Amino acid sequence: MTAADGTMRDERERIVLITGATSGIGRATASALARQGATLVLAGRDEARARATVDEITRGSPHARVEYLLADLTARDQVRRLAGEFLERHARLDVLVNNAGAMFWRRHITVDGEEMTFALNHLAPFLLTNLLLDALRASASARVVNLASAAHQGATIPFDDLRQEHVRYRPLGVYSQTKLANLLFTYELARRLEGTGVTVNAAHPGFVASNFAQGHNPWMRAAMVVSRPFSVSTEKGARTSVYLATSPEVAETTGKYFANCRPIPSSPASYDRDAARRLWEVSARIVGLTDSA
Ligand SMILES: NC(=O)c1ccc[n+]([C@@H]2O[C@H](COP(=O)([O-])OP(=O)(O)OC[C@H]3O[C@@H](n4cnc5c(N)ncnc54)[C@H](OP(=O)(O)O)[C@@H]3O)[C@@H](O)[C@H]2O)c1
Repeated sequence: MTAADGTMRDERERIVLITGATSGIGRATASALARQGATLVLAGRDEARARATVDEITRGSPHARVEYLLADLTARDQVRRLAGEFLERHARLDVLVNNAGAMFWRRHITVDGEEMTFALNHLAPFLLTNLLLDALRASASARVVNLASAAHQGATIPFDDLRQEHVRYRPLGVYSQTKLANLLFTYELARRLEGTGVTVNAAHPGFVASNFAQGHNPWMRAAMVVSRPFSVSTEKGARTSVYLATSPEVAETTGKYFANCRPIPSSPASYDRDAARRLWEVSARIVGLTDSA
């Protein structure tokens, strides 16, 4: 990594926090970054899965420094606790990979009263990133990588019904809205952090054979099994995240959307600056942030 003063930083010093690191694309991203010698902080929600992931990564990369922190990211106080525990251990953060995400077959409401897909896929990374901004700025050149999806195409943000109270709940439709939110957040944060040395980009990982949507519905599980031959491995799905997290080629790149390690255009709605600003303000109000970027 090249620091602001032009010196190369030893890869070993790079501190990386990855959410959703205990399965799928997140775990594959963590394994790949461990092989490159980064210090990893894995965010998981289940202690046994977190320990198993640490063991698996250190078996493959015996010299890797790997820690874990636990949080259910649908709960705001747990996101805050996760950020607090990270900051107690580390003075700076070089790479934040906002990877955790899900699609829920039924409408659920979180302990904070929010629709769960929106809470997990958008509000959690929004809050976590804002809480860690000082640590990111403390790095000479930090990167934020947000996992978006091609599924954002065609979506718009339902600003007057973010809890999905007044419509029939459509799992894929709501998921698509949250993935659009990831892009609006990526572009808005990149604008707000212009000139700070912190870059912000989004990744579409491809159609990946992970645990995604597996646990929620038998039809969805069956659909995933049938479509598996068209999917790529989690290792392949992690490539764009790893590229954005580490490649010198994108050290200066910010506010872009990538697939297959290349910048690609996102939907027209994702470039709507008014929507991005509005989403930022609404999100800050919902999560109770008074001093966001
Ligand atoms: N798979 C695809 O084809 C695809 C395509 C486009 C975009 N994506 C995006 O890629 C990202 C990773 O998905 P994936 O395919 O790797 O799915 P996955 O295998 O289901 O992994 C999702 C991760 O999120 C974590 N997570 C779920 N709910 C959580 C909660 N309440 N609190 C904390 N962590 C939670 C899971 O934790 P556990 O390990 O404890 O279950 C898991 O580690 C998501 O943002 C998804 O939207 C995936």
